[in-house]
Amino acid sequence: MIPTGIITVSDRASANVYQDLGGPAVRGAVAERGWQTIAEALVSDDLEKIAQAVRSFAKQGCHLILTTGGTGIAPRDVTPEAIRSVASLEIPGFGESMRMQSLRLTPNAILSRCLAAVVENSLVIALPGKPQGAVECLGFVADAIPHTVKVVRNEPTSC
Ligand code: MTE
Repeated sequence: MIPTGIITVSDRASANVYQDLGGPAVRGAVAERGWQTIAEALVSDDLEKIAQAVRSFAKQGCHLILTTGGTGIAPRDVTPEAIRSVASLEIPGFGESMRMQSLRLTPNAILSRCLAAVVENSLVIALPGKPQGAVECLGFVADAIPHTVKVVRNEPTSC
């Protein structure tokens, strides 16, 4: 069981211009893997608000924090910068793998700056905003998540 937090990053969903579909899609993918969503948030594309939500979820004991949205190159897309501002280190393999595998599905995946990083004892993964893209990207790295979470929690591992 991995205690998980999900943060939807979207100006429009947070202003109720449209419904948040990304958060529920990610929650479904988390449940399918037997992990437990213990906290959810919906924030605008604001660097400080995103950083604060990530920090707060890490303090609440979410050892996996998944964000969806804001990874692209639009002027308001600041999720990678927000996560980096509170992270102790970045794990480049996650972003590389998500982009490489997504490129087989859509050339637009090259625009996503999706990434993973460590914040306190939590693994934070920034997924794209499109619900299907978020679920796809989570699927591409899911097998590496339980081991990575153990490492960031300083639990004994097989390697
Ligand atoms: N990755 C996958 N697997 N599937 C997708 O549909 N959409 C792309 C990309 N990554 C997509 C994907 C698109 S269209 C964009 S613009 C970028 O993610 C960034 O999305 P974001 O700014 O909503 O995070």
